[in-house]
Parts: sequence; C-alpha cells; structure tokens
Amino acid sequence: MNNAWCGGVVFNIEHAAQTAALNIHFILLGSFSYSPNLSNQFTINYLSHMKTLLKLLGALALVAVLGIAGFIGYVKLAMPDVGNAPEMKVEITDARVERGKYLAHHVMLCMDCHATRDWTTFAGPPIAGTEGIGGEVFDQKFGFPGFFMSRNITPFALANWTDGEIFRAITCGVSKDGSALFPIMPYKYYRVLDEEDIKSVIAYLRTIPSIKGDVEIKPSKPDFPFNIILNTIPEKAALAPMPPKTDVLAYGKYLTTAAGCAECHTKQEKGKIVGELFAGGFEFNLGNGTMVRSPNITPHETGLGNWNRSQFVQRFKMYTDSSYIPAKVDLGKKEFQTVMPWTMYSGMTEEDLGAIYEYLKTVSPVDKSIERFTTTLN
Ligand code: HEC
Ligand code: HEC
Repeated sequence: MNNAWCGGVVFNIEHAAQTAALNIHFILLGSFSYSPNLSNQFTINYLSHMKTLLKLLGALALVAVLGIAGFIGYVKLAMPDVGNAPEMKVEITDARVERGKYLAHHVMLCMDCHATRDWTTFAGPPIAGTEGIGGEVFDQKFGFPGFFMSRNITPFALANWTDGEIFRAITCGVSKDGSALFPIMPYKYYRVLDEEDIKSVIAYLRTIPSIKGDVEIKPSKPDFPFNIILNTIPEKAALAPMPPKTDVLAYGKYLTTAAGCAECHTKQEKGKIVGELFAGGFEFNLGNGTMVRSPNITPHETGLGNWNRSQFVQRFKMYTDSSYIPAKVDLGKKEFQTVMPWTMYSGMTEEDLGAIYEYLKTVSPVDKSIERFTTTLN
C-alpha cells in the first residue's frame, strides 16, 4: 500500500524556504548598516568584498526561493497530472447495471459514503432514499487534514460529466475540473481494478434516480500544507483484469482491494500508515470520548487465527438474516457503535466473502491484540 501523505518532504521544503527568506532578510539589513565614512582601505576593500559576497549570497537565496516557489507553484498548478479523461462511451446493459449495483452497495460501497448515514443505528447504514446524494463529512474532528464532504453522484450532479470523466474520478482521483480528490475517496484501491467493473459502476450510476438532496454540499477545504501535498496523490490508473473465481486467493485479494478492507484495518495516524497491514489499531473517534478501533484481521490467533471460513461468512451474513432488526444505538449510554459497514458488506455473496477469508488467511500474521471499544462516559 503506498503511503500517500509524505508529510516530511513538505516540512523540509517549508524549512528551506524559511531559511532562504531569513538569509535575504539579513543581507538586506547588512547592506543598510554599511558605513561609507570608514577611511581604512583594508576595511573598505573588505567591506566591498563582503558586499559582493553578500550580493552573491542574496542572489543565490533568491534563486533558491524562486526555485522553491516555482516547485510549489508547479505542484499546485501542473499537478495532479493524470492526463485527460479517457474518451469512452459506457454502454448501459442490464448485466452491467446489476454488477454495478452489487459493487456500489456491497463491495466498493460508493453508496455508503455518498449518502446520509444514520448514526443512531448500528453500523450507520445509509438512510433509504439518500443513496448517492453525498454530504458525509470527514474533517479535523476525525483526524483528517482539512474539511472534506462526499459529493452528489446521482445524475443530478453527474449528468453533464462524460463517462470518461467519471472513470477518471473513480480510478485516478481527479474531479471533472482537474482538481485532486481527497483519498478517503478510495481511488488508490479502485485504480487497480478491472476496467469492466468500473464501467459497470458508471452504468449503474447513470440509472439511479436524480436527486438534489437537502444537504448543502460544501466545497472541500484541505489545510496547509496538505492543500499542496494533495495534488501529488492522484496517479494514473493501473487497471488489471479480475482473476477468475477458480483462482480463489487472487480473486479474494481482488475483492479485498475493491472493498478497501486494508484502509481501516491498518493503523494510521493523520493519514499516514504506521502499523502492519491488516493488523488493525486504527482509531475512530465517535465523539463524546468514545473510540472504536479496528481489530487485527491477520491470521494470527490475536486476529482471525481461530476463525473458520463459515464463522467469518456468518459474521457478515447475520445482518441479512430476515430476523435481524437493525439495532438502535445510543452513544450517550455507552452503547457499542462501529464504523465497520457490516450491513452494506453483508450483501456480498457467500462465495465472495469466503474468497476474502481465504485471502486474509495468507497475509503475514501479526501478534497484536486490540481493545475494540472504549468510552470515558460514566
Ligand atoms: C470512504 C468514503 C467513500 C467511498 C467508499 C467512495 N467515495 Fe467517492 N468521494 C468521497 C469523498 C469524501 C469525495 C470528495 C473528495 C474531495 O472533496 O476531495 C468523493 C468524491 C467522488 C467523486 C467526485 C465528485 C465531484 O464532484 O468531484 C466521484 C465521481 C465519486 N466520489 C464517486 C464514487 C464512486 C463511484 C464510488 C464507488 C465506486 C465512491 N465514490 C466511493 C468518499 C467516498
Ligand atoms: C470504515 C472502516 C472499516 C472498513 C472499510 C472495514 N472495517 Fe472491518 N472493522 C472496522 C472496525 C472499527 C471494527 C471493530 C468494530 C466492530 O467489530 O464492528 C471492524 C471489525 C471487523 C471484524 C470483526 C473482527 C472481530 O474480531 O470481531 C472483521 C472480521 C472485519 N472487520 C473484517 C473486515 C473486512 C473483511 C473488510 C473489507 C471487506 C473490512 N473489515 C472493512 C472498520 C472497518
């Protein structure tokens, strides 16, 4: 998994810019304090040499500052550089719409983030009728480097987008106007999927009801210096065909990528991966001093080591059981709540969930126990 937020680089640039600016400042001050009344030839020579040297240093510092400004300007103006949206016309077929619906609701979960979620119900399911309208907020409260809001992706908003523009947004993370999208939108996972699956999602999006929605979609606002770094994150797509279902491990890996399981089940701090892949420990602040953490899902016994395939599949499928009534959750009463989109994923077929299990059994086992839920409420 690539680590998108290379924060360190930018701090260095910033530091260099500050040092360069400081140098210029001293040089200017220096030339003001030069006194022409001094009679000693040596001093004058010395001073004139100093002056030349300072001028040279000044010029160098200026070049450095211009270079850095130029670099930042380049990152801001010329990046993201993922090329034009591809020319494509996605033919809408029943097969594609059906596949796209499955992916958007149960695997890639477009309809989880791009909807209004009901956080008074277990696992925050999307409120019926809001699918696609956007409006979920990801901001500093949850540890994100800025304010980001998922956008309307119903035909109301996408009607004047070309299929190629939607394709580029999903696989490269670039909006219609060429601006970079915040990577909570999981384009770094989607960019390696099968072209046919992306086309199926687009076909499905073209057929859902056009809804304006009553949430005002505010423009995203990344904080400094993330507003500059953000432009370096989108990448050209590297699509690959979906492995055949008979190749269970490769097929399971494909689905695990499409579903973005690693994103939440790997410890991150301020958007930076700091833990082992799939070993959990990502902290989600639910507010009111309540914290839910992703568990270890590697094959170690502190993870899924003691789970068999049918237990794993059942853990998801219990939410599609006809006797399951979505539980109401009151955080104020210390009741357990989770960001794991159980109810959405539960719509995956048993075969697909099973393949994810088989793949997870092959990742490196990590010895790590996680306390899943804590609250400081009394
Ligand atoms: C984990 C949450 C999440 C998931 C899952 C997700 N998105 Fe997004 N998406 C976002 C957010 C947040 C933004 C806005 C990013 C920003 O403002 O920089 C976004 C932006 C977009 C945009 C750009 C809209 C615009 O006006 O620029 C499109 C198109 C889009 N998503 C489509 C999809 C599709 C299709 C899927 C499923 C294949 C999907 N998203 C899955 C959170 C998500
Ligand atoms: C939005 C973040 C998020 C995503 C995406 C996510 N998870 Fe989770 N997951 C969590 C959190 C948080 C928990 C702990 C709370 C709970 O049990 O619901 C959890 C719990 C689990 C558990 C229960 C483990 C146990 O010990 O009881 C399993 C299994 C699991 N996730 C597997 C997956 C798989 C497989 C995927 C991808 C298909 C996935 N998760 C995607 C956040 C996420």
